[in-house]
Amino acid sequence: MKSSPSFYVVFEGIDGAGKSSQIQRLAHFLKDELGDKRPILKTFEPTGGSFGQEIRRRAKAGPVMSAQEELDLFVQDRREHVEETLAPALKAKKIILQDRSFYSTVAYQGSRPELGQSLEDLLQVNDFAPKPDLVVLLDLPAEIGLKRVKQRGQADAFEQVERQRKVRENFLELADERFLTVDATLSEEEIAHVVAARVSEMLKDKL
Ligand code: TYD
Repeated sequence: MKSSPSFYVVFEGIDGAGKSSQIQRLAHFLKDELGDKRPILKTFEPTGGSFGQEIRRRAKAGPVMSAQEELDLFVQDRREHVEETLAPALKAKKIILQDRSFYSTVAYQGSRPELGQSLEDLLQVNDFAPKPDLVVLLDLPAEIGLKRVKQRGQADAFEQVERQRKVRENFLELADERFLTVDATLSEEEIAHVVAARVSEMLKDKL
């Protein structure tokens, strides 16, 4: 019997888009559908590794990073993630559900004019990162995302309305045939339903 290929899904969106709850829901859906047939790996960027920790620490405490430092840290973190986690998981043909990816670097670092890099340049910097089979873009207005983040008491340097607007615009510009763009102002259930339908369709012939 032919073994199933890997299936790599990335969730993207501005802060407060609701990625983590949707990843939880999709993981449950897949477990219900597949049982233990296929291992599922949940992972995220920035990672919990040393570069990821440095990013979180500096975003919360300052001093504010230069745009170039920020880009370098995200890319170093991603190189480590690809090498240590993603490449082996893809090779082992796992189902991978990932919270943020190189698309976040392109959208967020691409929102800093002082960096002077176009979306195209940033895509090239991230050329080493594997391309997902599906990108779920949870799309919503910056004001609504920020309101949700503030309710959680988590606002930090990445989270200002002008910046989030630009980030949203960048994500929408990046959306190609790999993307499923979902209105993230819908209810959690409705969003989960749309995502599960697409994933089922894509996995139909691959199990
Ligand atoms: P986030 O997923 O919100 O992590 P946490 O839930 O731990 O706060 O990511 C933190 C911030 O980092 C978020 O505002 C988006 C930003 N970010 C970038 O600017 N570039 C990147 O490449 C990535 C992965 C994230």
